[in-house]
Amino acid sequence: MNQHIVITGCAGFIGSHLTMTLLSKGYRVTGIDNLSYGNASKMNSFSGQKGFNFIESDAVNIENLILAPVDIIIHLASEKIPRYSSGYETLQNNINTSEAVINFAIKKNSLLLFASTSDVYGKNPNIPFHEESDCVIGSSLNKRWTYAGSKLITEMRLAAAGRAKGLKFQIMRFFGCYGPGMSSGWRSGPQQVFLEKAMRKESPEIHGDGTQTRTYIFIDDLISGIVSLINNQTQTNEIWNFCSSENEEISVIDLAKKIHKMVRPNDEFKPLFIPYSDFGYYEEVTRRVGTAEKAKRLLAWKSKTSLDEGLLQTYRWIQGI
Ligand SMILES: NC(=O)c1ccc[n+]([C@@H]2O[C@H](COP(=O)([O-])OP(=O)(O)OC[C@H]3O[C@@H](n4cnc5c(N)ncnc54)[C@H](O)[C@@H]3O)[C@@H](O)[C@H]2O)c1
Repeated sequence: MNQHIVITGCAGFIGSHLTMTLLSKGYRVTGIDNLSYGNASKMNSFSGQKGFNFIESDAVNIENLILAPVDIIIHLASEKIPRYSSGYETLQNNINTSEAVINFAIKKNSLLLFASTSDVYGKNPNIPFHEESDCVIGSSLNKRWTYAGSKLITEMRLAAAGRAKGLKFQIMRFFGCYGPGMSSGWRSGPQQVFLEKAMRKESPEIHGDGTQTRTYIFIDDLISGIVSLINNQTQTNEIWNFCSSENEEISVIDLAKKIHKMVRPNDEFKPLFIPYSDFGYYEEVTRRVGTAEKAKRLLAWKSKTSLDEGLLQTYRWIQGI
């Protein structure tokens, strides 16, 4: 095997799990991270390992950083939904970095796996989202859509580079991933925030009325999905949803209650509702539910970890058990 894989965002939540798994499978991995959100300590378990090389840099410079041949690039480095910022950095970072990574992949003739998001389905009311579903995002004046917009531009750019330059790529749309190793705060989504709040005996912050629903995916399942794409290179230039089953759809308020019950079973549940107006011109996705039937059919992959099981593992990790 011994293929050379480059991972951008290797010091982040998904990147650190993925790097560890790929090293254990015998791949040589070069990881790039500017540590803007990631943490060098997330790489402790593999940083000295044979076959791993870390480059602390912005991935926008990728072309000058790696001279060796590269078999596969997995592009994870990204900004996320700007709840508390302007959206300027989201567009700047995500579009410029992805452009550099795509040009690099074309030059190196490497397969490029791109981490996109379920957020691109936006306000599409037709549930569950499958890979051909319409991407229905809102006004360009709304900063909330800069994340989905930046990911969609990159997806289209990949598809065009496939047609025009023969680039081989895969677009991976992840649905709310959680598990041990998540970063602190909203960047990691509601599971982390609700767990942290419950453990500090604070009220969970519910954005809006909490009736918006989601499906999530446990980190181990997501990593096995990415590995199944690496192993199956016969069907490239496709979009793949990675999500748990539709039966796992849960509202944000019920997620908060579930976590409260797990962490503070004897205390009363007292959520704190934050109106969307606190985020300026914001817009919420009412239901974010996908289907991963395509990955099940063509990659023989499916998510195995239930939300209850995944939350318990995450809670134990935070407790250091
Ligand atoms: N975690 C999820 O639930 C989820 C859901 C949908 C999509 N995704 C996508 O998956 C990818 C990984 O997500 P994550 O949860 O691991 O995020 P994360 O924030 O934990 O990791 C991202 C890493 O990228 C690094 N980074 C950011 N910009 C960089 C740049 N320009 N150059 C070099 N490094 C840079 C950060 O320092 C960080 O270590 C992202 O592209 C994200 O959009 C994640």
